[in-house]
Amino acid sequence: MINKKIEQEFNKQINAEFYSAYLYLSMSAYLSSINLSGFANWMEIQFQEEMSHALKFYNYVIERGGSVELEAIEKPRSSWNGIIEIFEETLKHEQHVTSLINNLMTIAFEEKDHASVSFLQWFVDEQVEEEASVDEVLQQLILIEGKGSALFMLDREAKARVFNPVV
Ligand code: FEO
Repeated sequence: MINKKIEQEFNKQINAEFYSAYLYLSMSAYLSSINLSGFANWMEIQFQEEMSHALKFYNYVIERGGSVELEAIEKPRSSWNGIIEIFEETLKHEQHVTSLINNLMTIAFEEKDHASVSFLQWFVDEQVEEEASVDEVLQQLILIEGKGSALFMLDREAKARVFNPVV
């Protein structure tokens, strides 16, 4: 059985993961509107990954005999000043998510909940990968100043990204 403190914190994280999904879907729509369909695909995959993160927490709470309480999802912004700003915000957002996961890990240790420590380790590792992949795209975009034929090439590369289910 999951303890109440962990249950409450994990419910908050389910909401945070759904918000991330919402934010990235909004970014995908914006990227479509500026004709960067490859990057729109990249963000749609990001959306799918966040949905699977939310489900991973959701299934874990249920598996441990806890209660899931879904809260309202905050409205994300819907417009940006170009692709570089999108990836800057994405990196900042992922760094924020990393701090949320680290905080959950600290609570799991404090509560001596070893099952949750083990469960959260996957997310700790995932965040390293998430930050690295977003930063890689951001650095490439900065290098080409977010424009020209190089942007066209990067957009084509981004179109090839596919979703690998994690749950
Ligand atoms: Fe669910 Fe992008 O971290």
